[in-house]
Amino acid sequence: MEAIWNERYNTGIQVVDAQHQELFQIVERLRRMVQGQADRTAIEEQLQTLVVCSERHFATEEGYMERVGYPDLTQHLAEHASMLSSLHELLAKFRESDQAMALMVPTFMEGWLKHHISDGDFGFVTYLKSRHMT
Ligand SMILES: [Fe+2]
Ligand SMILES: [Fe+2]
Repeated sequence: MEAIWNERYNTGIQVVDAQHQELFQIVERLRRMVQGQADRTAIEEQLQTLVVCSERHFATEEGYMERVGYPDLTQHLAEHASMLSSLHELLAKFRESDQAMALMVPTFMEGWLKHHISDGDFGFVTYLKSRHMT
């Protein structure tokens, strides 16, 4: 397991936990690549992977939330959408040759993930438990 992952981020929803772990792993790989001054194409590919896996993860959660009628879906959607637009912006800036952008992505994404999982995603888990859905 990657260093930044911690058991406290386990939601108990298998598919969600697997995707969260994958995202942490991508972030950690990206951090090592940036610190090791990997070549530009490799870093761009990893940034792209982060975007794709984030999109897939958000779609998984949102689909689940819709199916069970989660009342805070709108707020949760907004948080996901805001993160995706930030990621797209960072990727675009990196492609416009602002290489320094890549330096801030791992810290930014790690912080966001930890906060969003602890707050937003666990809010959903609390809802599922209250409805005896988990
Ligand atoms: Fe999540
Ligand atoms: Fe989420």
